[in-house]
Amino acid sequence: MRECGWGLLSLFLPHTIMPEYKGTIKTKMPRVGTTIFTVMSALAAKHNAINLAQGFPNFPCSPKLVSLVAEAMQAGHNQYAPMPGLMPLRELIAQKIEDLYSSQYNPDTEITIMPGGTLALYATISALVREGDEVIVIEPCYDSYVPAIEMNGGRAVYASYKMPGYTIDWNEINKLANPRTRMIIINTPNNPTGTVLGAADMQKLQKIVENSEIIVLSDEVYEHIIFDGMEHQSVARYPKLAAQSVIVSSFGKTYHTTGWKIGYVSAPAKLMTEIRKVYQFMAFSTHTPTQYALAEYIKDKEAYLEIAAMYQQKRDEFQKLMQGSRFKLLPCQGSYFQCASYEKITHEKDLDFAARLTREHGVAAIPVSAFYQMGEDNKILRFCFAKTSETLEQAAERLVKV
Ligand SMILES: Cc1ncc(COP(=O)(O)O)c(C=O)c1O
Repeated sequence: MRECGWGLLSLFLPHTIMPEYKGTIKTKMPRVGTTIFTVMSALAAKHNAINLAQGFPNFPCSPKLVSLVAEAMQAGHNQYAPMPGLMPLRELIAQKIEDLYSSQYNPDTEITIMPGGTLALYATISALVREGDEVIVIEPCYDSYVPAIEMNGGRAVYASYKMPGYTIDWNEINKLANPRTRMIIINTPNNPTGTVLGAADMQKLQKIVENSEIIVLSDEVYEHIIFDGMEHQSVARYPKLAAQSVIVSSFGKTYHTTGWKIGYVSAPAKLMTEIRKVYQFMAFSTHTPTQYALAEYIKDKEAYLEIAAMYQQKRDEFQKLMQGSRFKLLPCQGSYFQCASYEKITHEKDLDFAARLTREHGVAAIPVSAFYQMGEDNKILRFCFAKTSETLEQAAERLVKV
């Protein structure tokens, strides 16, 4: 009744259309428009295409985890969490890092829970990169790094993964490093290439940064999605490297809950002090009931250790389904992305081909040029295989016909 009454009343109230803002805006991000993920997802929706573009699972997370969040809400854990995160969760994260990588982080001073990996990356860059500092990024790279660097007055200096095989030439990185270099960003397992750094890579990186004040920002959000028996080379495994590194992790990737936006940062106390100073004014704290739920769920080691086998099976399934297609699948050692060269199909630009693939063949993918500032186009598309078998089968059926 009451709702009905308000509804009627609103008929008689004057409706105002938001007036235009009349001032001038000098944009802080002149080169940034709508991200390719939004563009491709919108295109996929418009053409009713199968969306292998955006990186998220289309299968549910654990019902137990959902229940734990609901229970925490019902138990009244609905107010601000402590700024660095719930202590029991931080303690369990510290234990997990010690078990996996034999490295000790103090939960009190060296681990902070944050609303997602992207915000964690931004808070870290914002706290540690100053006007005029150089940050080495290795392209193709996750699209938030460079805007975060530039928004904070830093300058991105570009190295690139080398083809074929997307390997890092550490001599190139060494040559780029200089006294203005504040940070080097690495990402393993890597989005979009699906490559993984090995022990030799980490040793070379350690050699480059030792005796310098360079901070390594290590984006490890796909740490548990690694295949063929390979071991994730966290910077935490390398004590000297860890002493000058910040690690960003995401529960969203590990527990199929990308929409929950919850992750954490691990770093030596001196770096963490600065990161927390910034973070407290970005978000202050992270969703409380989810932290309670994770503090219980993280005790189940299987839940994070078994996802490597689960995603490896999905990778293998997708690769098998794609046999006989004219796409050439590149090696995929980790993450939930499969890159594929379409050189044998067309010479179109990858942006154009990705759009046409969506429109005419009903499958959306991300053109890898979107992960380069200058749009380098190697005729490669990125497909996300974090999808049900049914979705992968339907997508592959269309892709083999291209
Ligand atoms: C390499 C990489 N880093 C960070 C993130 C962000 O993680 P989150 O969803 O927790 O913000 C993503 C998400 O796609 C990613 O691919």
